Amino acid sequence: MTHPLFGAAYYPEHCSAERWSTDARLMQQAGINTVRLAEFAWSRLEPKAGDFDFAWLDEAIQILVAHGIQVILGTPTAAPPAWLIQTHPEILPVNEDGQRAGFGMRRHYCPTQPAFHAATRRIVQAMARHYQQHPAVFAWQIDNELGNITNGIRCHCSSCRTAFQYWLRQRYGSLERLNSLWGTVFWSQEYSAWEQIPTPMRNVRPASPGSAHNPSFYLDFARFTSESWIQYQQLQVQILRDLCPQHLITHNLMGLFPYVDYVKLAQDLDVVSWDNYPRLPAPWSAFKGNWSPSHVAMAHDLMRGLKGRTYWVMEQQAGPSGWGRISPTPLPGEIRLWTLQSVAHGAEAIVYFSWLTSHVGTEQYWHGILPHDGTPGRRYEEIRQTGEELQHLGALVTADFPAEVAILRSYDALWAFEAQPTTEELSYDDQIGRYYRAFWRSNVAVDLITEDPSWESYKLLVAPCLFVLREEVSTRLHAWVEAGGTLVLSFRSGVKDKYNRVVDQPLPGALRDLTGAHVIDYTALLPTGTGVPCGGPESLELVLDGTIYHIGADVWMDDLEVNDAEVLGTYRGGPFDGSPAVTLKRFGAGRVIYVGTSLDDVGQALLMGKVLDETGITSGVPSPDSVEIVRRVHEGTDYWFVLNYSPVAQEIRLPARGIELLTGRAVTETVIVNGFDALVVRSQP
Ligand code: GAL
Repeated sequence: MTHPLFGAAYYPEHCSAERWSTDARLMQQAGINTVRLAEFAWSRLEPKAGDFDFAWLDEAIQILVAHGIQVILGTPTAAPPAWLIQTHPEILPVNEDGQRAGFGMRRHYCPTQPAFHAATRRIVQAMARHYQQHPAVFAWQIDNELGNITNGIRCHCSSCRTAFQYWLRQRYGSLERLNSLWGTVFWSQEYSAWEQIPTPMRNVRPASPGSAHNPSFYLDFARFTSESWIQYQQLQVQILRDLCPQHLITHNLMGLFPYVDYVKLAQDLDVVSWDNYPRLPAPWSAFKGNWSPSHVAMAHDLMRGLKGRTYWVMEQQAGPSGWGRISPTPLPGEIRLWTLQSVAHGAEAIVYFSWLTSHVGTEQYWHGILPHDGTPGRRYEEIRQTGEELQHLGALVTADFPAEVAILRSYDALWAFEAQPTTEELSYDDQIGRYYRAFWRSNVAVDLITEDPSWESYKLLVAPCLFVLREEVSTRLHAWVEAGGTLVLSFRSGVKDKYNRVVDQPLPGALRDLTGAHVIDYTALLPTGTGVPCGGPESLELVLDGTIYHIGADVWMDDLEVNDAEVLGTYRGGPFDGSPAVTLKRFGAGRVIYVGTSLDDVGQALLMGKVLDETGITSGVPSPDSVEIVRRVHEGTDYWFVLNYSPVAQEIRLPARGIELLTGRAVTETVIVNGFDALVVRSQP
């Protein structure tokens, strides 16, 4: 395997074979040493059931190999061919509205359909047998962006329904238990046979926002669906491990995509990879305001957290994007900047999407490195230069990312909020993003984790809106804080048990001894002008080290009663005028900060600044808001990635002088980073 991996997604099947040598030559000249191939090429690889044709792919690979390029092969199961759908129409997924998908896009399959499993086995086994000894193939990407269906979010076909009923039977053992834990007595929903249990389709009102279904039932279906994707991936992993034990296995994930538990999905993979489109707000991320470099950074950190190590970017944006419409093009320098941001956060492989902009199909407007006419231009040149520069980083791309702070993002919470968004203004990822941004702005390294990995090694754990609290998580949190950890909790925490039932204790439920304060009343805050009495934002006074700050609060307010905690923030005005809003409790050797509302950026930064100080966490290098500084440590030496997202040059003061690796020049502590430029400085004592 050539390192660092620098590549592009390539679709030889989209153009005539005469073009292939030109492409390979241009790739080689751009420093591309890796391509991802075939992840949508099922109809060409198996034109008829059981009738395989690898000749064209062999020929394309041979040409690439002759130009020093190695191959990641995609299994093509994200695009089931027409002949398969004709023979097995039941493969087509059924969406929340009960509509079966038609043929004509991709991801038009249900992950639990036996006929699809059989077809998957056949094509994956055939590919694996054909390429198991091929010297150029070193890795597999399973499918493409697992987790949703072409016409909706989750599949509700009869196979999924039966599998869900079976899954519930395994989990609950008896219907009595299920009925009791789900509280199906509400509205006479008690089940007397497993076959009666439906899936949470949108055939009950209201469709939006959230769901009118029983929340316990809804959350279990979300868990079940996530597991069906994991099992479907496992089916392919097994075949590839058996037949190609020497190859790496990955899958291209989607950053903040919420519908599959990525920690569990990643367990079966050798390496995590993900698709990074900084100019494209992910449709599922409900951030307020614009998608910004801090959101991209957060997605990177989430991906690194899945296996706690470096990862690959399998699709890095290489041009304007869009299907029906064309988005603004990356400005000169931005593709390089996005690439270096990826590397800064832990990507040890960069594969651009895609090589040549397609002339045909849905993605004609999704621009690759080369435009439609195939001629190298500005973006090609920028990527070529970036590849050359990455060579100067060497082993740095695998260096440690020393984070002392972790933010907990829980899939249970994501799915429970999906059923009950709680207020129009509340988005779980937005809340996580607000805390993340406070650390990002002060260049403090953060890992994003779920409840499952251990958080014992972190000094500070921030768990905003920890809506669903499993008992064992509560126990671990108690033990960890008692032993010295610092925990930040916010409103809507400890509200639900693992069955998604509201607890019958004051909030934050099982965590209230940790907070030393509990919720006696609460209100949603709607934007001003919505005509309701609680029009926000409200304000509060935050008292930090004797200084009073006036801070804005929106989304939600908890009215707190304090039994045994210090009050850091107090509401001014609004229904809870004078009540505590932010508290701090020392618990064992640790401390717990409870934030009863959603603070504005200034408040968030002030409060997190205090928490960092108290926790003794090394503060990041100060920088203007548009400049991100990421510290990596390799063999005891500090490296600083300095990334400027603004068009204007900025001056930064680093903690040490050093060598700027991309240019090889010596730099003092004070460096200038030009607009849309990046520096990588190796510190020198
Ligand atoms: C990704 C996907 C690619 C391509 C790209 C542009 O999400 O994996 O196959 O479709 O988006 O739409």
